[in-house]
Order: sequence, then C-alpha cells, then structure tokens
Amino acid sequence: MPDIKTVAIIGCGIGRSHIIEGYLPHPDRFRVVAVCDLDPARLAAIADEFAISRRTTASAEIMAMDDIDIVDICTPPATHYPLILEALAAGKHVICEKPLVGSLADVDRVIAAERTARGVLMPIFQYRYGDGAMKAKRIIEAGIAGKPYLGTVETLWKRTAEYYDNPWRGRWASELGGVLMTHAIHIHDLATFLMGPVSRIFARVATRVNAIEVEDCVSASWLMQSGALVSASATLGSQEEISRLRLAFENVTFESNHEAYAPGEDPWRIIPANADVASAIDALLADWRPVGRRFNGQMLAFHEALSNGLPPPVTSRDARQALEIVTAFYESAESGADVALPLAADHPKYRSWRPAA
Ligand SMILES: NC(=O)c1ccc[n+]([C@@H]2O[C@H](COP(=O)([O-])OP(=O)(O)OC[C@H]3O[C@@H](n4cnc5c(N)ncnc54)[C@H](O)[C@@H]3O)[C@@H](O)[C@H]2O)c1
Repeated sequence: MPDIKTVAIIGCGIGRSHIIEGYLPHPDRFRVVAVCDLDPARLAAIADEFAISRRTTASAEIMAMDDIDIVDICTPPATHYPLILEALAAGKHVICEKPLVGSLADVDRVIAAERTARGVLMPIFQYRYGDGAMKAKRIIEAGIAGKPYLGTVETLWKRTAEYYDNPWRGRWASELGGVLMTHAIHIHDLATFLMGPVSRIFARVATRVNAIEVEDCVSASWLMQSGALVSASATLGSQEEISRLRLAFENVTFESNHEAYAPGEDPWRIIPANADVASAIDALLADWRPVGRRFNGQMLAFHEALSNGLPPPVTSRDARQALEIVTAFYESAESGADVALPLAADHPKYRSWRPAA
C-alpha cells in the first residue's frame, strides 16, 4: 500500500483543477486536508465542494500545520517566490504552478534553498503528461529517432478583453510576462523535454491582440545544443485554439495532437522512416502503460518519486531552463541580438526581464 500524503492547496483557481485531476483520482496516495485563498467566498465554495474542513485566508496558517506533507501553490505568478521559500522553510514538500518565479536570480535562490530543505519542490509542467509525449520521449531516449533535425512549436490560443478582467493578468508586476510566460511556457518546456537544451535564441515579441502591458504575440528561431533548429511561435489572437509540436528526427517525425490544453496526450503521429524503424518502435512500446493525463500523471509521478526517495519528475532545474528561454526571448527582442544560453549571474536580465526593472 502506498502511503497517503496530506496536501494543502493555496489558491483556489487552477487549484480546483489540481484537486479534481491530480488528487481525487488517487485517494490511496493523496488527501487534500486544507485550502487557502485570500477570497473568502471562493475559499468557502471550494472547501464546501470537496468537503475540506480546514480553510483559511492566511497562508502562514498552512505553513504552521504540522501534519501537512505537501503545500501546492496555485496563486498568481508574482506570489510564488515568497510562498515557495516559506513552505520549504516549514519543512514541506512543494508543488508550484508555472511560471515558478519571476527571474533567474529568484530561481537560483530557490534551488539554493532546496539544498538545505527537508522537502523537495516540483514545478508544474503537466503538458508532458500524456501518452503521446511520453512515447515520443521513450523512442528518442532509446536512440531510435536518431539525430534531431528541425522542430516547429506553436501555441495558437485566443484571449479576449474579458480574460484580463482578472487584475493580475496583463501586467508586468503581477503576471511577470505575457503569452511567453503564461501560455507558451508549457509547449516550450515540452520542446526541450524532447529535443534537449537550447543554445541560441533570436526572437521578436509584440502586443497586438489585447490592450495589455505584456506581449501577446511572439516568434523565434532557436538553435538547439544538438545543432537542430526550432521555430517557436505563439499568439493569443488565433480564432481556432490549437497547440502543435512537430519534430523531425533522422528516423522518425513526431507530431503532437492539436488539443490546445493537452497536446501531450495521444494520439500523436509517429511517422517512421521505414519498416525496420516501425518494428523497433512497436517492440519498444509493446509493454506501454498509460501515464495519466496532465495533473493526474504529474501528481502520480511525484508521489512515486517521494515514495522511492527519487528527485521529483519535474525539477526546479527544468523550471530554470524554461525561465532562461523566456529571459533570452526578451533580451533578443529588446536588443535585436542572437542570444547565447546559458545565462549566468552577470547577464543584464539575470535579476529581472521586466522592462521597468
Ligand atoms: N498549469 C496550467 O495549465 C495553468 C492554468 C491556469 C493557471 N495557471 C497558473 O496558476 C496560477 C494561478 O492562476 P489562476 O488562473 O488560478 O488565477 P486566479 O486568479 O483564478 O486564482 C488565483 C487565486 O489565488 C488567490 N490568492 C492570491 N494570492 C494569494 C495568497 N497570497 N494567499 C492565498 N491565496 C491567494 C486569489 O484570491 C485567487 O483566488 C498562475 O501562476 C497561473 O499562471 C496554470
């Protein structure tokens, strides 16, 4: 029998989806025992809906609860950094929504805090959790796909003025960025998960769809460390919402499904170069066991890692890589230069990528 981890959720927007998709399907592994939100009406609605008796508007009360194993942070982006540090200092395991924090300096401080913490931190990148993406990962890691050639990575979504009625959205100080930070970060993480790290980025950003401070259209050319090329584009002005990843390797071309919010799920098109490659893929995937979709799969993998004393399935280093890509996008768009990664502590945007900083 796996042991049951107790969970407290802070932030009851996407936090509700974490409960429904991530925790309730695994009653033998997780029990959500406390919820927190600054908004008393929202707090009461969620606590009542899921019969959670402990409810508070003060996150400090959550941190002080001795019997909580995991603090799951689902608050707006600019609040993540202090809450992560408080939860780690309180000895908790931490799950935190994207974007993890608001600068490379902050993510490095989080990584340093983890070294001495009792708990571990798992950033959310739930788009990895789908059978399509995970089968592609297994085929690539087995060496069947061969040399990576080229990828196209698209986030074509729609957001209207109504979406920006929520006051933290659309502003540098609270959203920390736009389509790059809040939306495309998922598929950019998925692209590096499958094609490896980025070496150089040339990017343009623009605000064309909504009257907001932050960008809502981006386009970039990436040179991967492997030598492969990736073209990444994202907009919040697409009349049909899709996410799409198409990756051409020497022996296999992969194309994700186009579901906007679950591109990692089956069906993926896995197109082999010839019959031998097809048989190698069939043999490799003969014992495939479904991974669980989105938060379901990611929370389950976290529980398995905790139970086996392994690192979390998504790490703060993965979040750092995603934030480094964001930083390079903004740097390139501002300077017109082709930006080399990794970005170290002496980079001008290391402490912040925000224009006002
Ligand atoms: N992984 C995904 O697919 C996904 C989807 C949506 C949102 N998100 C991320 O989740 C986070 C929250 O987004 P959302 O759409 O749920 O926002 P939201 O505004 O709908 O909900 C956030 C909630 O947090 C509460 N809150 C704010 N500060 C708090 C604090 N200090 N203590 C307690 N409660 C606090 C607010 O009252 C609000 O109810 C963001 O970082 C966003 O980028 C991720």
